[in-house]
This record gives sequence, structure tokens and C-alpha cells, in this order.
Amino acid sequence: MRSTTDLDLQSPARRHRHHAARRWQRDDLDARLAPASTGAAHRGQSRAVPRVRDARPDDAAAITALANALIPSTTYTWTERLEPVAERAAWVDARQSAGLPVVVAVEPDDDADVLGWASFGDFRDTERTPGYLITAELTIHVREDRWGRGVGRALMAALEDRARAAGKKVLVAGIDASNERSIEFHRRLGFVETARMPGVGELRGERLDLVLLQRDVGADR
Ligand SMILES: CC(C)(COP(=O)(O)OP(=O)(O)OC[C@H]1O[C@@H](n2cnc3c(N)ncnc32)[C@H](O)[C@@H]1OP(=O)(O)O)[C@@H](O)C(=O)NCCC(=O)NCCS
Repeated sequence: MRSTTDLDLQSPARRHRHHAARRWQRDDLDARLAPASTGAAHRGQSRAVPRVRDARPDDAAAITALANALIPSTTYTWTERLEPVAERAAWVDARQSAGLPVVVAVEPDDDADVLGWASFGDFRDTERTPGYLITAELTIHVREDRWGRGVGRALMAALEDRARAAGKKVLVAGIDASNERSIEFHRRLGFVETARMPGVGELRGERLDLVLLQRDVGADR
């Protein structure tokens, strides 16, 4: 009898995602097992807490590279199209002009070295249905060579501050169900899974499931 895992791995895309996920899980384990004092040296990486600042126009190329990085090899972002830098730059400008945050994490001693970025926007159409104004949907991306080093946590803290300041009460993350790393990351940061929507997406001929997680950020709850 075939195991669930065998059944799950019938398509090449699923096999690819499975192996990629296993690789990242191994990396996580390596990072967690490494002693805190020597782990960074072992991996040749800095553990310094990153600085988070508003994105600038000259960050557009780095933000685009991060946004595009996993598109060819995963289903984490439901598109096959690699975004041009100019388009992402316009998106950053439009968001910031609308008072929405786009923030980047940088090395404390290198303001131009972008380690990750994050943003939030409307969860649903707030013009037609302003009742959704209290909720925002976030997106967060950390450079793969810095995963597991606290960059995501720092970006999320900044997003939550901005969300509170903007009067938001709930942050929502919509995550591809195969992206177990991201789901675990959000859980660790206090998000709770509130929906699992089977087959609501399709990419490269494969139906995709969406997981919604949310966290209250308002002061009044
Ligand atoms: C998900 C992502 C943002 C996490 O960023 P990160 O910088 O690696 O996360 P951090 O190092 O700040 O981890 C924060 C906490 O989550 C935990 N965590 C992160 N990944 C984890 C995993 N795979 N399993 C268990 N815990 C995990 C960390 O242990 C840490 O907890 P701690 O501080 O209590 O030890 C990053 O992996 C990423 O950019 N992934 C690709 C893009 C993506 O999936 N974006 C989300 C779509 S909305």
C-alpha cells in the first residue's frame, strides 16, 4: 500500500516542493542545534539584529529579486511571471503614497544590504466594504541565506507597529499550503490558523490550497 507521502509525490512539481521543503527543514534543524554562540560562525553569518526602515526607491531591485526568487521553483507565490524592477518600484511608491508600509531589513552597519522586506495592504475591497478597514493582509520575504536568523521576526514587529499606528486590529497572512516553513513561522509569532481553503488556486496545472492565519494587533482586544 502506498503511503500518503508517496501519493503526495506523484507529480514532478510536488516532488520538487517536497525535496525543497525537506532541505529547508534540515537547514532549520542545523540552525536550531547549533550552539547560539557558535552557530553564526559555523554558517559564516551575522546574528546581529537587523535594522528595519522604510523602503527607498533604490531598494527596488533588491525587493524585486526577493519577490521573484522562489517563483520558478515553488508555488509560494501564485504566479509564474517574474516581475520587472520598474513595476515593483511603482508598486512600492503607490503603497507608500497611500500611507501603507513597505519596510526593509538591513544590516545594522550596511544600510544598503537588504536582507528582507515586508508590507501590508487591504485584505478585501475597503472602498466597497469599509468594514474590512480594520484588517490588513501582509506579505513578508527574507533572503534565503538569512533564514532562521531573526530577520522575519524583526520585520513582523515593524509591521505590527505600523498596523497599530494605522488603526488596524487584525493582520492576516494568506499562505500556500505547501509553504510549511512560513506557516510555522507565523504560528511561532502568535498567528492562528483560521481557514484552509482547498483548491482555490491553480499553477502549472496543479490545484493549490490556501491557508489563512491571523493575529489581533489592536490595543482594544
Ligand atoms: C517565512 C520567512 C519570512 C521566515 O523568516 P525568517 O527570518 O527565517 O524567520 P525568523 O528567523 O525571524 O524566525 C522567527 C521565529 O520563527 C521560527 N521559525 C522560522 N522558520 C521556522 C520553521 N521552518 N519551523 C519552525 N519554526 C520556524 C524561528 O525559530 C523563530 O522563532 P524563535 O525566535 O522563537 O526562535 C522566510 O522563511 C521567508 O522569507 N520565506 C520565503 C517567503 C515566504 O514564504 N513568505 C511568506 C509568504 S506570506
